[in-house]
Amino acid sequence: MIPEKPPQENVFHGSEELKEAHVPSFDKYRELYMKSVDNPDEFWGDVAKDFFWKTKHTGQFLDYNFDVTKGEIYIKCMEGASTNICYNLLDRNVHEKKLADKVAFFWEGNDPGDELTVTYRELLQRVCQFANVLKAQGVKKGDRVSIYMPMVVELVVAMLACVRIGAVHSIVFAGFSAESLCERIVDSQCCLLITADGFYRGDKLINLKLLADEALQKCRDKGFPVGRCIMLKHLSKEPEGILGSQSPPAKRPCPDLQQEKQAGRVKKTRPVPKVPWNPEVDLCWHALLRGVSDECEPEWCDSEDPLFILYTSGSTGKPKGVLHTVSGYMLYTATTFKVVFDHQPDDVYWCTADIGWITGHSYITYGPLANGATSVLFEGLPTYPDVSRMWEIVDKYNVTKFYTAPTAIRLLMKFGNEPVQRYKRSSLKVLGTVGEPINPEAWQWYYNVVGEKRCPIVDTFWQTETGGHVLTPLPAATPMKPGSATLPFFGVVPAILNESGEELEGPSEGYLVFKQPWPGVMRTVYGSHERFESTYFKKFPGYYVTGDGCRRDKDGYFWVTGRIDDMLNVSGHLLSTAEVESSLVEHEAVAEAAVVGRPHPVKGESLYCFVTLNDGVMYNSELEAELKKQVREKIGAIATPDYIQNAPGLPKTRSGKIMRRLLRKIACDERELGDVSTLADSTVVEQLFQNRCCTAV
Ligand code: PRX
Repeated sequence: MIPEKPPQENVFHGSEELKEAHVPSFDKYRELYMKSVDNPDEFWGDVAKDFFWKTKHTGQFLDYNFDVTKGEIYIKCMEGASTNICYNLLDRNVHEKKLADKVAFFWEGNDPGDELTVTYRELLQRVCQFANVLKAQGVKKGDRVSIYMPMVVELVVAMLACVRIGAVHSIVFAGFSAESLCERIVDSQCCLLITADGFYRGDKLINLKLLADEALQKCRDKGFPVGRCIMLKHLSKEPEGILGSQSPPAKRPCPDLQQEKQAGRVKKTRPVPKVPWNPEVDLCWHALLRGVSDECEPEWCDSEDPLFILYTSGSTGKPKGVLHTVSGYMLYTATTFKVVFDHQPDDVYWCTADIGWITGHSYITYGPLANGATSVLFEGLPTYPDVSRMWEIVDKYNVTKFYTAPTAIRLLMKFGNEPVQRYKRSSLKVLGTVGEPINPEAWQWYYNVVGEKRCPIVDTFWQTETGGHVLTPLPAATPMKPGSATLPFFGVVPAILNESGEELEGPSEGYLVFKQPWPGVMRTVYGSHERFESTYFKKFPGYYVTGDGCRRDKDGYFWVTGRIDDMLNVSGHLLSTAEVESSLVEHEAVAEAAVVGRPHPVKGESLYCFVTLNDGVMYNSELEAELKKQVREKIGAIATPDYIQNAPGLPKTRSGKIMRRLLRKIACDERELGDVSTLADSTVVEQLFQNRCCTAV
C-alpha cells in the first residue's frame, strides 16, 4: 500500500541539509514502515529499549481487539511492564543522558522581554517539589487532577508532577468558560484544581481565578464540591498580594517568584487582577512549596494505567474524555516527534499550540522532553505586539523546527511578506502544520516565504484520539504535495471505505479509517467505554473510524477533506454543532437552533447559527448580542457565533429532522440545492435565503 517508488510529478522535495536525517530516504521509510506493520512487536520493542522499565512486560507487546462483533474493544501495549513517564522525560535525561544543564524550555511571555530559561535539572527539581506538594495534599495514584492554567512553565510542572505520583491530569484549555471547566471537573471527578491568578492575551487581561471560582461554585451546585484549588501567582506580585492567611508573610517573598522577578518575568507596568480568595478552599502555590524537598521517588505505574484525560468535542454535544495510558503514548509521541521533526540534539523546536489541546500535550510536553529537546514555550499571540512576533522569536532563539496551524499561517499571510522578511529565519530547517487541511495557497506561502524554499513542510494529520501523528510526510524522505498529509506513520494502516463499509482500492474517496492500533491510540472514553465503542468502532466493525472524509490519489497519497459528522473545525479546534445549539436554546427567547459551518478565509470555518424564537419574541440586535454572549459564557470564546440568523422556520424532513445540508447551502448562498423531495415545507428555504446574514455579527 505504500507506493514502491516515490511520486515524481508535482511534488516538492525535502532539503539537502537533512541528509543525515533519522529517515533519510523514501526507501528507508518504506522499509521501516513495512517492518512496523508486519512485525509491530519487534518494531516497537526496539523503540522501547531506549526507555527505562522498572519491570518487563508480560505477554504480547501490542494486544488488541478492533472488532466490536468479536467482543469488547481493547488495546494494550506492554501490559505488565512498569515505568514512570516523568522519570523517562526528566531523570533519565538528567542522569543517564547527561542533559542536566541543557535548556528544556525557553519561556517567552506575552510581552516581549518577559522570559525565563529552564534547564532539565531545574525542571526535574520543580516537578519533584510540586509532586511532594500534591502528595501532601493527599493526591494519590489514580486520582484525577484538573489543571486550568495559562502557557507558563508551571503548567508543565503541574502536569508532570501529577504523572510522577501516578495521578491523572485533566487539562482544560484556559480559553474555556467556567461552565466548560465545571462540566469537565465533574465528569472526571477531579479531587483538586490547579489554576493561576490570571494572564494577558495581548492587551487583554484574563482573570482566570475568577473563572475557576465560578466553575468551583457550579461544581458545588451540582453536588460535587472540590475541596482544594491551588493558585499560581503569575501576575499578582509577591509579597503584597491580597491573598489570605496562606500567603507568604510580607517580608519573605517566596524564593520561586523572587528569582523569576529578577529574570524579568512579571511586567511591572501591567495592572494585576483582584484575586478573590476563599481560605476554605484556596491554597497558594508558592506558599505550599516553601521548605518542600526537591526529591520525590516516582510512582511506578503499569503500562496500561491511565496517564491523562483530555476532553474533545462530541457530536452529541457532551465532550468526550479521551483517555490515554502510560507506555504506548510515551513510545508513540517520542517516536513521532523524533522522526517527523527529524529531531537532532542541537535543535531549538517551537510548537505554537497551547498545552490545553492535544498538540501541546504530545508535542510541547511529552514528545520533546522524551527526546531531551530544547523547546520554546510561548504564552502570547502571533499578532502581539505586532504581526512579526513569530519571526522575531524564531530569530531570538534560533528556532530550527517550527510547528503551527494553517489558521495562523492564513492570518499572517494577510499582512504580506514584509513582516516575515524583517527577520532572517535562517535557522529554520523543518516547518510543520496541524489541525485542519491546509489550503495549497497557504502551503505555498509557508514554503516559499517563511521557509524560503529550503524547509520541507510536514502536514501532520492526527486527532486527540490518535495521541500522535498518523498521516504525515517525513521531512527528508517523503516528497510533498501541498495540501496532502501524504502517507501513514509507522504502525498505522489507513483505509478508505464507502458508505457500505467496503474498502476502496486505488484512487478513491470515502471514510478515513484505521485497520489496526498503534501504541498511542486512545484506550477509552473516560467513564463510558460504551461511548468509545459506539463513536469509533460501531459504524464499520473492524475499523477505527476517524470521522473525516479522505481522498487517495493515484500515487497512494491521502488528502483529508474534513469532518463528515456534525463537527466544525474553527481555527483548528473541533466544535460540536450540538453543543453550540444547546447553549443557544438555553436562552429563554430561543425555541430551536441549528448551527452549520460556513467557510472562512482565516479560521477555516465560521459558525453560522439559525435560531427560531419563541412566540411573541422580537429579534433585534440586543438579543443577538445576548445570544453571542450566552455561547461564549457557556463554552468559551472559540465558540462565539459569527453569524446569527432569525429563522421563523427551519427546513425539515416530513419526519421532522432538520436538513442541515440545506442550511449549509443557505449560509453559503448556494442555490444549487440538489434533491429536496423529502422537504416538508419548501417555502421555508426561500424565506431563509431572502433573510440570510451577509455580515458577521
Ligand atoms: O478533522 C481533522 C482535523 O482535526 C481533527 C482532529 O481535531 P483534534 O482532535 O482537536 O486534534 C487537532 C490536533 C491534532 C481531525 O479529525 N485535522 C487535524 N490535522 C489535520 C486535520 N485535517 C486535515 N489535515 C491535517 N493535517
